Amino acid sequence: MTGELRFPDGFGWGTATAAYQIEGGATDGGRGPSIWDTLGRVPGAIANGDTGDVACDHYHRSAEDVELLGWLGAPYYRFSIGWPRVQPAGTGPLNPVGLDFYQRLVDGLLARGLRPWITLYHWDLPQPLQDAGGWPARDTADRFADYARAVHERLGDRVEIWTTLNEPWCSAMVGHAEGRHAPGLRDPHAAVAAMHHLLLGHGRAVQALRAGGCRQVGLTLNQYAIYPATDDPADAEAASRIDALVNRAYLDPVCRGSYPADLLAHLGRHTDVETLVHDGDLTDISAPIDLLGVNYYTRHVLRRRTAAETAAAAGLPSPWLWSPDIEFVRGDLPRTTMNWEIFPEGLHATLTRIATDYPGVPLWITESGAAFPDALSPQGTVEDQSRIDYLAAHFGAAHRALTDGVDLRGYFVWSFLDNFEWSYGYDRRFGLVHVDYPTQRRTAKASAHWYRAVIAANAVPPQTR
Ligand code: FCB
Repeated sequence: MTGELRFPDGFGWGTATAAYQIEGGATDGGRGPSIWDTLGRVPGAIANGDTGDVACDHYHRSAEDVELLGWLGAPYYRFSIGWPRVQPAGTGPLNPVGLDFYQRLVDGLLARGLRPWITLYHWDLPQPLQDAGGWPARDTADRFADYARAVHERLGDRVEIWTTLNEPWCSAMVGHAEGRHAPGLRDPHAAVAAMHHLLLGHGRAVQALRAGGCRQVGLTLNQYAIYPATDDPADAEAASRIDALVNRAYLDPVCRGSYPADLLAHLGRHTDVETLVHDGDLTDISAPIDLLGVNYYTRHVLRRRTAAETAAAAGLPSPWLWSPDIEFVRGDLPRTTMNWEIFPEGLHATLTRIATDYPGVPLWITESGAAFPDALSPQGTVEDQSRIDYLAAHFGAAHRALTDGVDLRGYFVWSFLDNFEWSYGYDRRFGLVHVDYPTQRRTAKASAHWYRAVIAANAVPPQTR
């Protein structure tokens, strides 16, 4: 048996949540509607007809939740600001009641020696901005930068680390091309416009925060480990196209100031990208960042479909723009209840790939975790050994990346609490802490106790690997 896996001194352990997934209080304190509130009212859009109206009721229970975070002892807590809570119309003055909520949260964290990490946009666009065109409209990028500047003006004295967007691929593609996420559109042209304007909003928000004195600003991208199913060149092209659509479409403009040529060639066959990208946009988008957040969950294995298979898939709503000729091959690895394959090696591959191809930016794993069918035992415990195994394996992969020289600064487990898992509703439990929704009782799962010990020792104990 090998010894414990020690992490560098000061390694940034953390947990993460997002406003719409935990807060509830949907109409409290002057909060306005978001695109997720609207989608939640569309019959069939969300499993079991669930909505985020109450969620984990964190809006009313943040003091208790901060106590729990203090008990856990992870130095970082990543949460998002609900745009519709602090600026209900998406423009204009900030709502003081909404702001107070986040000020209290931040103060509570700081009082326990925890470091707040703010995400400015985790998918909850104010509905009035959607009514004005949403992310497919260029103006939304400037509304986002204005909002970012205003929030930073109020919280920048106490919060050091800021990220603009969470997973712009999901916002743009799952929201506008597949339609499974808000705003529920199935229009690939709108999805491409949303992608560009999200990135533009990111770049302009970075500049606004920097001008306001912020020294730690970046964004979070979801990244997948991507492989061709065979060594057939057609499968290699399929893998490379999906890599361009989900990984490089965001890394390249942010880190290099250009969209990948193969991405532009693919999109350019179907939609007018040139009109979308104005002079100077890529300079804004590539405004220097101080950190890059990486969310990693699984891998994708791709193969090129036959002509008949492609014809059958054509016209189905998909986040993979104009790619009905590509099949996501079902692998044979164990899966989580999201049906995502468990592939810790992919985390190592993802981190080393970014460090090699996009060097110079410190990396943080801003989300990593798994949903399992957790249940409260009669004794009131949750014995989630599968989550412990999952985390131990992924911590091991991160450790190998550190050993290989990747500048990895921290690791945030998704999620602190069980919460509203978007179109899956409350069915998928990702938390270290179990939430009994009818009573809102919180119970630290076995994984929370295990993670607490990892944090305290700054090491993963040998018996769990
Ligand atoms: C990520 C999201 C996060 C959560 C996890 C499971 O894509 O950022 O809100 O839903 O997936």
